[in-house]
Amino acid sequence: MTQKKRILSGMRPTGKLHLGNLHGALANWVEMQDQYDCFFFIADWHALTTDYEDTGSVSDYTKQVMIDWLSAGLSPDKSTLFVQSHIKEHAELFLILSMITPVPWLERNPTYKDQMTQIADKDLTTFGFLGYPVLQAADIIMYKADGVPVGIDQVPHVEITREIARRFNHLYTNVFPEPEAFLTKTSKILGLDRRKMSKSYNNAIFLADSPADISAKASRMITDPQRARKSDPGDPNVCNVFEFHKLYTDQGTTDDIAEKCRTAKIGCVECKKIMAEGLITALEPIREKRKHYEENPKLVADIIVTGSNKAREVAQRTMEEVRSAVKI
Ligand code: TRP
Ligand code: SF4
Repeated sequence: MTQKKRILSGMRPTGKLHLGNLHGALANWVEMQDQYDCFFFIADWHALTTDYEDTGSVSDYTKQVMIDWLSAGLSPDKSTLFVQSHIKEHAELFLILSMITPVPWLERNPTYKDQMTQIADKDLTTFGFLGYPVLQAADIIMYKADGVPVGIDQVPHVEITREIARRFNHLYTNVFPEPEAFLTKTSKILGLDRRKMSKSYNNAIFLADSPADISAKASRMITDPQRARKSDPGDPNVCNVFEFHKLYTDQGTTDDIAEKCRTAKIGCVECKKIMAEGLITALEPIREKRKHYEENPKLVADIIVTGSNKAREVAQRTMEEVRSAVKI
């Protein structure tokens, strides 16, 4: 039998996960668990790059994200689930890689430039923020990952990781394979206001939302913007509610809704109610599991410790090779 390929990916603990996270990343990870040797971790040190002034929520969000992962189907029996700051080796490798990474590689990183202009309320002129991709490179090559499932926005970081790995191998000895970005298909569902779903836009439906929350949020959703009245025909293809139907409502009902929308035989209020019902039902198993883990914090803590111990063993072996390559 050939060995399973190894993949690794991470999320920053910036809050409870929402449907954008589920369909943009997590659902893909859950599917990959059988096919790959999976390492998934919560990048709590990376959260500090932007939130260093207000670190009070990071550890709670770390637990919440782990609960969301477990509830959505990531399994500690199949995958190595861990927390970045529990593996101090990441900091050591980050330090060594920072010695060999040319600053211009980081300055021309597109996410660096974007965030600098977009996040105006935080001072991001720090060494740590510039070095974000170096820490990410350490996360990835520490486990000699073959693939990194990420969204399109993270591809430049995987590219920098490949360059750093190549430079290390060239300067010292060949220790690291160059990881590939495994592009995850992006989620078509948008936030309630049709912008990208994001906690900071206040337009998100969270995995932890109650049925009442979901109904209330569904009723707030912007539909086909051209459809002002119930008597106007609508276009489901430009309607975000319809994207939700495609995921959460059965095929027959979905087809029926499309037809009735185009012929103005169904109003958006009713349409949203049907959608909310499907969504509430679909998220029921996740909510159930969430409740179980929330009531058993010890269980979650143990999963984090066990996963982190497994990850650390791999990291320690890699660091032995690194220290010997660098002769230090
Ligand atoms: N930068 C990633 C994000 O914001 C999170 C992350 C940190 C990551 N380290 C990683 C993703 C390593 C993949 C691999 O989404
Ligand atoms: Fe969208 Fe449904 Fe309204 Fe059509 S009826 S515009 S699909 S919410």
